[in-house]
Amino acid sequence: MNADPSPPSAPDLTYLPRIQQTLLDWYAREGRDLPWRRTRDPYAILVSELMLQQTQVDRVIPKWEAWLAQFPTIVALADAPTSAVIKAWAGLGYNRRAIALQRLAQAVVAVHGGRVPDDVPELKALPGIGPYTAGAVAAFAHNRPVAMVDVNIRRLLYRLFVGAEVPEYRLSEGEIWALARAAVPPGRSADWHQSLMDLGATICRPRPLCERCPVREWCRAAPEWAILPPDAPRPTKSQGKWEGSNRQYRGRILRTLGALPHGDALPLPLLGARVREGYTEADAAWLLGLVRALARDGLALLSGDEGAYTVRLP
Ligand code: ADE
Repeated sequence: MNADPSPPSAPDLTYLPRIQQTLLDWYAREGRDLPWRRTRDPYAILVSELMLQQTQVDRVIPKWEAWLAQFPTIVALADAPTSAVIKAWAGLGYNRRAIALQRLAQAVVAVHGGRVPDDVPELKALPGIGPYTAGAVAAFAHNRPVAMVDVNIRRLLYRLFVGAEVPEYRLSEGEIWALARAAVPPGRSADWHQSLMDLGATICRPRPLCERCPVREWCRAAPEWAILPPDAPRPTKSQGKWEGSNRQYRGRILRTLGALPHGDALPLPLLGARVREGYTEADAAWLLGLVRALARDGLALLSGDEGAYTVRLP
C-alpha cells in the first residue's frame, strides 16, 4: 500500500523557459490593448490596479481615463476636495477605495514628496498597499523582477507548474509566492505579468479553456482537466446579492449627496425618501446605521443631533 496517497506537489520548472517564451510571444501577438498598458507612470498604474481590484476591465477603462483627466498627478489627487474624489469614483462600487486612494496619495506626498516609490518594501509600507499592489506597481511601472499574486495568477501558476487546484491547493501561500518569483523571465517582468493577466482572464479561467491555451503542452494540470468531471471546479465565491443590499443603498446615498450643490447637507428623512421608495420613520434607525458606517469610512459627514440629523459629503 502507498503510504502517501497524495501526488507530489513540488513545482516542476522543467518547461519554464519554453512557457516564458511562448507566453511572451502570445502576449505580443494577442494581448489585450488596455490603456494602462500604454503608460509607465506609477501613479496611473496604481490607480488602475486599485480600480481593477473589484471592478471589471470594461467598466474601469472610462473611469480610469476620466480620473486621470480630473486628477492628473498624485499631488492633484492629494489636494482635491474629498467630495470630488468620491464623486469621481461613483459607479465603481466599494467607495471606501476612493477614500483609501486619496489617503494613499496624501501619504506619498507627505513621506516621499509626491514620488511613488519603485521598491516593494517602500510601497508596502504605504497605507492601503498590500503585497499584490506593491508587486504590480514595481513590475508594471518599473519592470522590476518581483512577484505579484492575485487569485488568477495563483490559479494559473499552480496549474502550469504543480497540477489541478482541485480539490485544493497543496502549496502554502509562501510557496506560491516563491514560485511566482522564480517564474519571472529576466528583464521581462512587466510583459510577463500582463501575459499572465490575459491568460487568467481569457483562457485559464476557473473552468479552463485548455483547447485554446498556447502553453497547454507543458501544463501539469491540462491532462488532469481532461479527465476531471465537467463540474469539478468549485463555484467561485459569490459577492452576495446586490439588489436591495446595504451596499446598493450606500451607493445610492453617495450619489444623492453628490448631486447636491457643493457643501449642502440633507436632513436624514429627506435622504431616506430619495434613496428608498416608501421610506418611513420606521426605517430611520436602518438609514442612520448606514450613514454612520459611511461616516466611519470617511465617505460622509453626519451633523446635528437625535431627530435633526443632516448628512453631506466630506
Ligand atoms: N487586473 C489587474 N491588473 C490588470 C492589468 N494590468 N490588466 C488587466 N487586468 C488587470
